[in-house]
Amino acid sequence: MTMTAPLAGRSVLLVISGGIAAYKSLELIRLLRKGGAEVRCILTKGGSEFITPLSVSALSEHPVYTDLFSLKDESEMGHIRLSREADLILVAPSSADLMAKMANGIADDLASTTLLASNKPIMVAPAMNPEMWAKASTQRNIETLKQDGVTFIGPASGEMACGETGLGRMVEAEDLFDAICSYFAVSAPLAGYRALVTSGPTYEPIDPVRFIGNRSSGKQGHAIAAALRRAGADVTLVTGPVALPHPVGVRTIHIETAAEMLAACEAVLPCDIAVCAAAVADWRVENAADHKMKKRAGAMPPTLNFTENPDILATISAHKTRPQLVIGFAAETEDAVSSAREKLVRKGCDWILANQVGTTENPAFGADSNQVTLVTRSTTDPWPTLAKNEVAERLVERIVNFMKETDQTNDQRSPAKAS
Ligand code: CTP
Repeated sequence: MTMTAPLAGRSVLLVISGGIAAYKSLELIRLLRKGGAEVRCILTKGGSEFITPLSVSALSEHPVYTDLFSLKDESEMGHIRLSREADLILVAPSSADLMAKMANGIADDLASTTLLASNKPIMVAPAMNPEMWAKASTQRNIETLKQDGVTFIGPASGEMACGETGLGRMVEAEDLFDAICSYFAVSAPLAGYRALVTSGPTYEPIDPVRFIGNRSSGKQGHAIAAALRRAGADVTLVTGPVALPHPVGVRTIHIETAAEMLAACEAVLPCDIAVCAAAVADWRVENAADHKMKKRAGAMPPTLNFTENPDILATISAHKTRPQLVIGFAAETEDAVSSAREKLVRKGCDWILANQVGTTENPAFGADSNQVTLVTRSTTDPWPTLAKNEVAERLVERIVNFMKETDQTNDQRSPAKAS
């Protein structure tokens, strides 16, 4: 790892809004510059009440952008280019007001307009009074922003400048710097590789209010997405309904049905690595009702007709832009390894993580640990019972080794890899 300049070649757009924590952003600019990043800054009107444009531009070594309609700023770099030229946008500190604007698509100054016009990943480091943070309106906005793929760093808990204590302090500059470094993970072994992970259950509608689902918690798939991200891969997670937060830095797409999952996955291809950990429903209801089914006195219960769902793992394995490595899961109640190998051949994937489920030692669904066996075409490698995070870490280690070996053999980068 290049310790001296872990962010060399990276460009960060820092949006500084109003809050006493703005002083920490000056330290962050210094750290980012020292780490080798190019830093451009937008200072809102509120932000400039706490720190001066002069300090920001002196530390970032660039003009500071303040005004949406300033001819000078626009002639040098307009708000569209500001976001396009950054690899990552960090809003720190982010006031409750700026978060509310972001959540609602309001663009009435340079900061909010740039954020709305952005096509780049956005991180937010909130800073506000604990009451403001806890307000239902703020929490609603946070939920919306998370759904939109925004990553939150903090806030931390502690004594506030206003004298009150609670959740709302902006995290320290060092923590923000670490979060940015781990986001870029520049020297990580999978930097430059694109990975797709499916996770969670699918819900197949019976009518607008009822569905057929399953007990998958998504814990294993989400842990794999997070571990791939930590290893530096550019990860897209396609997930069914789960009660889990988005893994940091992972592009997360929410779907409900198998058909939606397939469409979302196909839109991600080409990629280098695909891990299908979702518990996809094998069938969907062919005669799903458009309106809520009513129970009528004396009437027969409804009959559901099923039709087969597409097999996402098999589709990805046979795709014209097939990833270099396609991995599936097989939860079996008996004879896990031989069923897994049969499944591997039938679906055309490279590896299967097989687990025997339904035993008291290994309930798998919803549990935090898992006992799996890594089955390839020629090997069978049983792993001990591990926490799902550890299963994920171990799998990613194997993936890293595989990609290294394959790249050495081919001596060329796969087309899906970012330049
Ligand atoms: N899978 C998939 N799409 C489907 C069904 C399964 O992508 N429609 C994937 C799962 O994500 C998993 C693997 O296939 O990686 C095996 O899932 P499993 O449910 O065990 O396989 P099935 O084909 O449903 O076989 P079975 O008859 O044992 O249920």
